[in-house]
Amino acid sequence: MTKWLPALDSKAGPKYLQIAEAIGESVTSGILSARDRLPPQRELAYQLDVSLNTVSRAYAEAAKKGFLCGEVGRGTYVRTTSPLAESASAANMIRSERGLINFALNLPSAADSAAVLARTLETLTGSPSLSSFLDYQADGDLTRHLEAGATWIRRTGLRASSDALVLTNGAQHGLLVALLSLMRPGDVLLTEAATYAPVMALAAHFGLKLFPVPIDEKGLLPDALDSACRKTAATTLYCLPTLHTPTTSTMTVERREEIADVARKFGLCIIEDDVFGFLPQNRPPPVAHYAPERTIYVSSVSKSLAPGLRVGYLHAPKKMIRQLHSAVNLSCWMPPPLMAEIASIWIEDGTAEFLNDRRRVEAMFRQQTARRILGRHAFQADPCGMHLWLHLPAHWRPELFRISAEKRGVKLMTADVFSVAPSRAANAVRLCLSHEVSRERVVRGLDIVANLLDEQGDASALIV
Ligand SMILES: Cc1ncc(COP(=O)(O)O)c(C=O)c1O
Repeated sequence: MTKWLPALDSKAGPKYLQIAEAIGESVTSGILSARDRLPPQRELAYQLDVSLNTVSRAYAEAAKKGFLCGEVGRGTYVRTTSPLAESASAANMIRSERGLINFALNLPSAADSAAVLARTLETLTGSPSLSSFLDYQADGDLTRHLEAGATWIRRTGLRASSDALVLTNGAQHGLLVALLSLMRPGDVLLTEAATYAPVMALAAHFGLKLFPVPIDEKGLLPDALDSACRKTAATTLYCLPTLHTPTTSTMTVERREEIADVARKFGLCIIEDDVFGFLPQNRPPPVAHYAPERTIYVSSVSKSLAPGLRVGYLHAPKKMIRQLHSAVNLSCWMPPPLMAEIASIWIEDGTAEFLNDRRRVEAMFRQQTARRILGRHAFQADPCGMHLWLHLPAHWRPELFRISAEKRGVKLMTADVFSVAPSRAANAVRLCLSHEVSRERVVRGLDIVANLLDEQGDASALIV
């Protein structure tokens, strides 16, 4: 793609918005394709006879909308799939038993929990404190809900206490709250080189600069983190040490200690995303255990109990609690106490443990099925994880594989969606095995993927 120029003829308003809009139109209409490199900013400014600043703002605006991604020193590229579109698509959560088999979304179904919920709602009907769930809470969250949250989080090995806890509307909201309290536009956020896509979208919205830190099969590399801190003077790291998205890796105890040491050395604050932390049977304690004075630990009941409850927990150094509460107030006033009440009852009466065990057993069953069907093909997975990271043979490229799989009936996500530097993304795709309700559809989807891996890609599929 050499000669692309934005079509501005019919546009009005500030020039940078016109250019950003034209970029969006070119991407949606297919004039610009995934991974196309946009003209250097200086060159486009010259050709359009506008200032360099106008083009910079236009590219930033288009990136904010999820159409582009930039890499310092490597140019600006069209994203394969917009992380904004991906996060938005999560909102449309109809789990159909027909149509495409969805290996793209990592959201477990709670279809098996309706009876448990019905019983809990009946118990609640007779509760003398029912009306308090309909009220604003005077002092933030109800103490009982905080105590239940702390009890639940202690299962991970973190010494959680209720006075260091803040309730959120799930982990996604927890991440928003953590970023709101810690970061200002222009700040650098360090992340694993491949990371949870909505964090990239949040960073774009906040005007943060993302800096990717290399990873290996044990997760974030301590030396690379050290060097990133020196290069950027960043103050915050976002990471997923347990069942990493998308690679599935879990950091060892040693790696966690090393990361904590580097963070301490540079005064780095860590946002630790532990949404999958309740799935493994044996796991190392969270990084927050090794660096409690500087870690905001983010968790929720989405993967362990039910995503629709929207109950999340932040555990943080006590000196940060006030500012985290303010960010919760600012973003949603407070999470609905009724939902926190349901989660708390489940934690107190053992239902949470029961449901979490079920999620684990189902995840393990699906991982075993995947191992059997994908057999000799190269992939990373955790026996208790909900997703797997499939390395493609050299004759496949992720985008062609994605399109070919979709034509056969399977939806999945390519590595660049998770990559802070998409042009350096791995030759891999992520398969999420827990979204589909029926095991039969998971088997069918895996068969399609396994057969495809053995075939040669038909590159004409890339021509729309
Ligand atoms: C890595 C990761 N972090 C955070 C979230 C958000 O979880 P929640 O549903 O609790 O908002 C998800 C959900 O898919 C996730 O995969």
